Amino acid sequence: MLSHRRACHLLMLVPMLVMDAVYAEINDARARYHYQMFCQGCHTPDGSGANAVPALKDRMGFFLNSQRGREFLVRVPGSATSKLSSSALAEVLNWCLLNFAGTSVPSSGYVPYTEEEVDRLRQDPLQEIIQHRASVIAEIAAQSPQGAQHE
Ligand code: HEC
Repeated sequence: MLSHRRACHLLMLVPMLVMDAVYAEINDARARYHYQMFCQGCHTPDGSGANAVPALKDRMGFFLNSQRGREFLVRVPGSATSKLSSSALAEVLNWCLLNFAGTSVPSSGYVPYTEEEVDRLRQDPLQEIIQHRASVIAEIAAQSPQGAQHE
């Protein structure tokens, strides 16, 4: 039988294993390569963007503050219509969030994208991006002080 102490140790291990599983899904070299091949040409190497290309850097995590915002990051054409498979796209988005989003992610944390979620959302790419984006931002800004600081 497990001693009480040993059982406690096992219980403490469970969340650590779950976290590991989440991060293990991001293969850094592969995700970086996919970003370089499929996103970087417009979004620039560090995600800061230029001209009509919005910054992912220190910005994109803001959209995780609402379900529509979360969906927006997948439904923009650059994501939704990319040649990447849904599992690779989920990985690249999670990689961007980890490497670029900085403190723009919700302070309560976020659930990484999965292949299934991305696969479903990208079936419905956005048409009216500018309007849609503005309404997502306004909605989040109205509900959180963090949001009010977003351009
Ligand atoms: C051909 C240029 C181009 C490529 C390639 C591209 N994007 Fe974009 N991306 C844009 C533009 C322009 C926007 C602004 C919305 C729009 O007009 O589509 C955007 C918007 C976004 C946004 C929303 C950011 C915001 O603040 O509105 C995300 C997330 C995003 N792209 C992710 C990606 C990912 C991930 C890839 C690679 C798989 C990618 N993009 C490839 C040009 C590109």
